[in-house]
Amino acid sequence: MIKYDDKLKIFKLDTINTSYIFGLDDEAGYLCHYYYGKKLESVDVRYLSRLYDGKYLPGVNARDKNGFSDVAPFEFSTGGIGDFRPHALEIIDKNGSIACELFYDSHRIYEGKEALTGLPATFSNKKGDVQTLEITLKDKILKLAVKLSYSVFSDTDAIVRSVKVINEGSDSVNITKIMSLSLDLDNEDFDLLSLHGSWGRERTMEYRDLGHGFTGVSSQRGVSSHQEHPFIALTSKNITQTEGSVYAFNLVYSGSFEAVAHRNQFDLVRVLLGISPYNFKWELKPGDEFIAPEAVMVHSFKGLSAMTTAFHELYRNHLIRSPYLHKKRPVLINNWEGTYFDFDTEKLVNIAKEAAKGGIEMLVMDDGWFGNRFDDNRALGDWKVNEEKLPGGLKELVRRVNDLGLKFGIWMEPEMVNPDSDLYRAHPDWAFEIPGRDPSLSRNQLVLDITRQEVFDYVWNCVESTLKSANIEYLKWDMNRALCDIYSAGLPADRQGEIMHRYVLSVYKLQEKLITTFPEFLLENCSSGGGRFDPGMLYYSPQIWTSDNTDAGARLLIQEGTALIYPLSTMGAHVSVCPNHAMGRNTPFETRGNVALAGTFGYELDTTKFTDEEREMVKEQVKTYHKYNDLVREGDYYRLASLRENGVYDAWMVKSKDDKEILVTFVLANKVCNVKGRKIKLLGLNEAYKYVDEETKVVYGADVLSNAGILISDMWGDYQSKLIHLTKV
Ligand code: DGJ
Repeated sequence: MIKYDDKLKIFKLDTINTSYIFGLDDEAGYLCHYYYGKKLESVDVRYLSRLYDGKYLPGVNARDKNGFSDVAPFEFSTGGIGDFRPHALEIIDKNGSIACELFYDSHRIYEGKEALTGLPATFSNKKGDVQTLEITLKDKILKLAVKLSYSVFSDTDAIVRSVKVINEGSDSVNITKIMSLSLDLDNEDFDLLSLHGSWGRERTMEYRDLGHGFTGVSSQRGVSSHQEHPFIALTSKNITQTEGSVYAFNLVYSGSFEAVAHRNQFDLVRVLLGISPYNFKWELKPGDEFIAPEAVMVHSFKGLSAMTTAFHELYRNHLIRSPYLHKKRPVLINNWEGTYFDFDTEKLVNIAKEAAKGGIEMLVMDDGWFGNRFDDNRALGDWKVNEEKLPGGLKELVRRVNDLGLKFGIWMEPEMVNPDSDLYRAHPDWAFEIPGRDPSLSRNQLVLDITRQEVFDYVWNCVESTLKSANIEYLKWDMNRALCDIYSAGLPADRQGEIMHRYVLSVYKLQEKLITTFPEFLLENCSSGGGRFDPGMLYYSPQIWTSDNTDAGARLLIQEGTALIYPLSTMGAHVSVCPNHAMGRNTPFETRGNVALAGTFGYELDTTKFTDEEREMVKEQVKTYHKYNDLVREGDYYRLASLRENGVYDAWMVKSKDDKEILVTFVLANKVCNVKGRKIKLLGLNEAYKYVDEETKVVYGADVLSNAGILISDMWGDYQSKLIHLTKV
């Protein structure tokens, strides 16, 4: 999969369908990028760098090294040496200079993949499934070594990259910007695709023209964020699911990030993806190393669908570690939208009792069970059971829920503190606050400085003692505000630029401790809905709460954008009541169920308020979940139609890996009068097969399903939906 041509000094990384080629420029010793695209047999594509026409080579035209630097497709670009595009690495040395120039030093190719200390990263699952190339570049003046790692996989078209910087000198160097990925491409009339959003409408696909200069997205919030996502893709114009070219990039990181494409005067495009340089400065002392988070690259020349498959395979096979990855998740009832803060043991037990009748398998007690938490103004940080609400504590409640045959899960927001809390009164300096300034509150809360050991220990003890205090089998780890007012008493003034990243590392460390202390646990991450839904968190939890917006209509767009890169098995999705709490919209109960079936599935309401009809429908929905979840969780997902594009309906399908089963979901969002049915063409089928529709018993050739489509008759009313189950004959 990875080859090195010693004579040509070319590295060739082959995935199943793509090749990524770069090499050593003979004259100057720089590492230059040559090609990323459809798999090639040929190795020698050096001419593609445009440097071999002689004009720009420093040896030929030493007078004009700048002419070289500003056009060379550097594999890892650096600042201060005449490349006027944005760079991957920027430093300040002891003289205050920013120059860094990297030359090839050595490389090694090995089977498998090493872990990235302290960071989430993809891994090898079995012998022979991953190969890694590590290249060491050096700046001899700075005595800085930069190790670039690339891994390729036998079962997905993804390539992952990471960067390690090592200070081999005797003076400190400050890193002011480090991108995990730098990729120079030629513009092919690209659009830039990103996943834009807000609270309640996370990760909505958005295309824009790639003009000259910078185009991109970022988060400076300390979380990957609702607003922008650590993902961008360069696509050909009017790309479809099956046609067109896409280069896609995703960062395995949960904090502030930057993802940009820069198109320069020569129409060369540089893609950069990494930790946001905003408020970032990292002191690298002699002997220290800094590891930048892993970045994922996927190229498809067959439209978006193949890109999606590559990401899904990578994350399911090589990123998520939970024992629940390949298991059905218990159908849960979460009381948040049902009760908000207004609950006690009796209410929860009654909710559980009703839930049990419908076959629901776990009760999750959300926010409000601890301290003086009767609303969201107080008590975060005081992780002691409120005995007024829960007499007898967690033990008693959990015992009663277990007696009903349900598992028990709990909500915590470990990283936060309210000023009105015993914790804050005892340790006002434990929250991020800038000396002399009033901190900015958000939802009336502050962020704990978990980069400090004593704060970290307190937080961990709260999590551990809560989870050990009763038979708790699931944790929803919430995080409800962005980071600002960054100042830590734990570091000197000139190192405050390290805090944002150190914070993310501390979150990872807490969650690593959690999953090693409670290996059988089901962890679901959450951040005001889907504000920290990213590959970094998936390394710790197999599922993430996708959005606080549980409206089935809004979820179509949110789940479309999320499933563009993340497997359906990772998307927390629940049925809630109507009018919806976020949107005020009414949708049929059946459709709410059908949309939630595309995720982890559960309910978010007060079961004691079910109508008789709903009570019966829950039983059916839970049965349907059990019938299809293996397929939905493990199968191949294809997007068939998009409400975002057509304004009327949405459709997707999942096909089992052995081709035996297909489940199509169709939702008519906005009814158009007098339409005589719609044809939905299926994707990814072997056209030699035949399938029977379980409901109508009609047998279709897969060639017909693919080229003519399945006919969905018109429905009566908005937000009607339909599941179509096909099995191979
Ligand atoms: C935000 C989450 O997204 C909600 O599901 C709920 O847990 C609230 N926080 C509780 O405060």
